[in-house]
Amino acid sequence: MIKLQDVFKTYENGTRALKGVSMTIEDGEFVFIVGPSGSGKSTIIKMLTAEIRPTSGQVMVNNFDVGTIKQRQIPYLRRTVGVVFQDFRLIENKTVYENVAFVMRAVGAPQKTIKKRVSYVLNLVGVLHKARRLPSELSGGEQQRVAIARALVNNPEAIIADEPTGNLDPARSLELMMLLEKINSMGTTVVVVTHAREIVDQFSKRVIAIDGGMVISDKTGGYYVRPDITKLTEEARQQASASARRRKVLADELGVTLPEQEDAGTASDDYAEPVEEREPEEEQKHVEEAPAGESLAQESVLPPPAPEAPPEPPDPVPQNAPDEEAAAFDPMDDIFAELDILPQLMMESDRKKQGKGRDAE
Ligand SMILES: Nc1ncnc2c1ncn2[C@@H]1O[C@H](COP(=O)(O)OP(=O)(O)OP(=O)(O)O)[C@@H](O)[C@H]1O
Ligand SMILES: [Mg+2]
Repeated sequence: MIKLQDVFKTYENGTRALKGVSMTIEDGEFVFIVGPSGSGKSTIIKMLTAEIRPTSGQVMVNNFDVGTIKQRQIPYLRRTVGVVFQDFRLIENKTVYENVAFVMRAVGAPQKTIKKRVSYVLNLVGVLHKARRLPSELSGGEQQRVAIARALVNNPEAIIADEPTGNLDPARSLELMMLLEKINSMGTTVVVVTHAREIVDQFSKRVIAIDGGMVISDKTGGYYVRPDITKLTEEARQQASASARRRKVLADELGVTLPEQEDAGTASDDYAEPVEEREPEEEQKHVEEAPAGESLAQESVLPPPAPEAPPEPPDPVPQNAPDEEAAAFDPMDDIFAELDILPQLMMESDRKKQGKGRDAE
């Protein structure tokens, strides 16, 4: 679970990036975080990976407290959250397979497990056939899929993506979002920061809107944009003042005194509110129910998360016995058996290279 409680962040140069942000993202949720440039979205993401710490307030990520976590524990927190960046951040001189495999080596997984798991995630994101290629030989959409495979490979509880579609065209962006949705339906929490309004509008997901370092809206479905008072049409102005006048006439007939803000000419009081304002009780219901959204009811088809290191590990380098690591992935063995075709693929690729050269593949 991800929980921010009244989080403030002031950078060293005095920039107040977050001003009291609270949100809870339950396990299994799919959440979009939207907001204008500079509103604090990446600051939130950086806290979730313990890249930065809150100035005040509490940030809990899968039972790790980012405010107080010891440096040597940070790798353990990061094993619970896979991060996908806008610019992919793949290693240019490593193959697709190696880009993903090295993340598992870094946590001490045995070779056999690595081979199976990497094949599985590359297949899941649809780039297994590119396993032997270098990142530069892939399209942007394919590179982003590899980045997602890398984020997924250690079976994290959550995938956090900061502008993952920033370098993709609309069609590839939509495909990528659908892939993240598929990953979410398999049980992984997904948090996506995006500017892509047209994408958000196509998914009926929880949308948390950030503006000026604060949460200004948190509800399901549709990109949130604060109405711009300067862009209100004349018609809207007329409607607002007409309804205010009607209220005034009715109030006069009934002999009631309208509260100050209900009076005519104050329609602009509403302008700071969301476009599609919910009824108060509906909003309340959402707040209570949102964390346990539909996706939570779905059965995870991924194996249960590998047992994580205890909060106070004796050594920053994981020392799990290879057999223990392998056991963590055991439920996947049936799937792996089907997908375990990487060696075959590599041999085939080598054969082709010997013949017509690499590009003939
Ligand atoms: N390392 C830093 N030092 C000082 N100020 C920073 C730093 N990082 C971000 N800021 C400032 O904090 C505020 C929030 O930045 P943040 O990167 O979180 O915005 P964002 O919502 O991710 O924007 P964008 O959509 O452009 O990526 C901005 O005013 C930014 O200039
Ligand atoms: Mg950002």
